[in-house]
Amino acid sequence: MYNCERNPQLNDLDKILFTEKQIQERIQALGIEINNHYQNQEFVLISVVNGAIPFTADLMREIHSPVYFDSIRASSYNHSTNSNGSPILLDRLNIGIANKDVLIVDDILDTGLTLSCIINEIVQQKPKSIKTCVLLNKIARRQIDLTADFVGFDIPDEFVVGYGLDFAEKYRTLPCVGILNPDFLNPPSWS
Ligand code: XMP
Repeated sequence: MYNCERNPQLNDLDKILFTEKQIQERIQALGIEINNHYQNQEFVLISVVNGAIPFTADLMREIHSPVYFDSIRASSYNHSTNSNGSPILLDRLNIGIANKDVLIVDDILDTGLTLSCIINEIVQQKPKSIKTCVLLNKIARRQIDLTADFVGFDIPDEFVVGYGLDFAEKYRTLPCVGILNPDFLNPPSWS
């Protein structure tokens, strides 16, 4: 297994919230929950990229159902730690989801603005069902009444990075999730 301790980006974290081992164990449990729900029936898995790439890659290999895969890209943070309140879908789905069961996989449910924007887009294509799965659930900042169906971990109101989550496109490759030291938020070079 890759040794997280040797990654210099770890020095930018105040605290590791979830180690690689804890994340992988939780994903195995999520896979069981999802398999119990779908009972080997096929469904469409839609990954919200880029943030959900590592989570999706690990989760999809725990799933027994035949899965059709697609991704969707949304943006709202623009190199800051606060959503600007109006997520934009940067691309559209390539596969048809009408009358199909759909599972949306995202890295984090924070304000809920992004996921609700994606759900609104998907609903218009008349799927049979929509379920959501997020690795992290930051309840404190929710602006939309939205609860994910499958949740990896509840987290405190802190800006977290790693395992797909970025700040200005950094830290996505860390295999753990941690709280970013505020000194590394909005450094002068990015303002
Ligand atoms: P919302 O607020 O719309 O957030 O639910 C969804 C998207 O915003 C990003 N996000 C974060 N990224 N650390 C990050 O690195 C965070 O603490 C954080 N909170 C939200 C993320 O891309 C997510 O899909």
